[in-house]
Amino acid sequence: MRHLAVLAALVALAAAGPRERRQTTEYERCQDGTKVCVPYYLCQDGKVITDGSGVIDIRTASGCSNYLDVCCADPHTTDPVTPDPGHVSRCGVRNYNGIDVRIQGFQGNETQVAEFPWMSAVLKKEVVSGEEINLYLCGGSLIHPSIVLTAAHCVNKHLSSDLRVRLGEWDTQNEYEPYKHQDRDVSAVVIHPRFNGSNLHNDYALLYLQTPAELSRNVDVICLDNNPTILAPHHNCLVTGWGKDRFGKKGVFQNVLKKIDLPYVPHGECQTALRTTRLGGFFKLDKSFLCAGGEAGKDSCSGDGGSPLVCLDATKTQYVQVGIVAWGIGCGTSNIPGVYADVLYGYDWIVAEADKLLASPVVDYWGYD
Ligand code: ARG
Repeated sequence: MRHLAVLAALVALAAAGPRERRQTTEYERCQDGTKVCVPYYLCQDGKVITDGSGVIDIRTASGCSNYLDVCCADPHTTDPVTPDPGHVSRCGVRNYNGIDVRIQGFQGNETQVAEFPWMSAVLKKEVVSGEEINLYLCGGSLIHPSIVLTAAHCVNKHLSSDLRVRLGEWDTQNEYEPYKHQDRDVSAVVIHPRFNGSNLHNDYALLYLQTPAELSRNVDVICLDNNPTILAPHHNCLVTGWGKDRFGKKGVFQNVLKKIDLPYVPHGECQTALRTTRLGGFFKLDKSFLCAGGEAGKDSCSGDGGSPLVCLDATKTQYVQVGIVAWGIGCGTSNIPGVYADVLYGYDWIVAEADKLLASPVVDYWGYD
């Protein structure tokens, strides 16, 4: 997410230089005095890995002197709470104040813990020198306990057996969230038949989870609607993601999930704006796209691909997904909106394919009241 770089200020304060082949007892202490600095690949969700599994992504901003190190909790700390069996699922409900605790003092559009329970991370399982690690690919959204919606360009080159989805995640580098995240392997990937990898037309994909998510306070579905009532002129739309804070090499991926509110930009206006860029004066914005943003410094960015663009519905109690982060010309340039796969345009395909995946029609999760 653009303009959200504040966390980067946490980088590298201590004086000790990088050391090779460290013993556990030699690990540098983090600023808080309890955590230790370990190489990023030894830290999963804030805990030192003891079983050899991997991390979600290489992130910066660690508070350790070596930039490839991250602050990691002692492997002996206790596990957080497991899913809440008493949870009553309702799509699109935002936990404005987080769950259990509201974190004060955020400055850079950080979300609260579990504020957007449908937000998912699409990961790629990869084996690096004999160890399996999770590589962050893209964002996604839970639209049914067994189905995640993401962008086709995120997953079209990957086998379902290589993919994994993380639900209920918030801070990818720590595990102090009150509710545990849920990891699910993917057993099927369905790409829109008219997806075009060179221009990203019809950038829709569904991931079918090997076992359904356990809906909980931090894991729940987003609403889909074929005729959502979203109130102009403010629209109350926002995008969430772990993507980069700015375009290019200087941008860093985010540890804590970020959100940014975005104005909806009508199709014609967006096409006109995009024609002023290197796309040229004849550029035609496909019907499968919608646009949002165009305010300086407010945009999704690299790494946000597949993440949901959601808007508050007329009742103002539920969010409905209207877009999937697809592409942009740079990030956050004034008057150049970001481009999203239009979920309404793809609605019939999404619902039909989801129903096929579930083998029998599941009406409950498609409409909402
Ligand atoms: N294609 C990028 C990705 O998959 C998303 C870029 C979004 N860019 C933008 N300016 N909104 O991560």
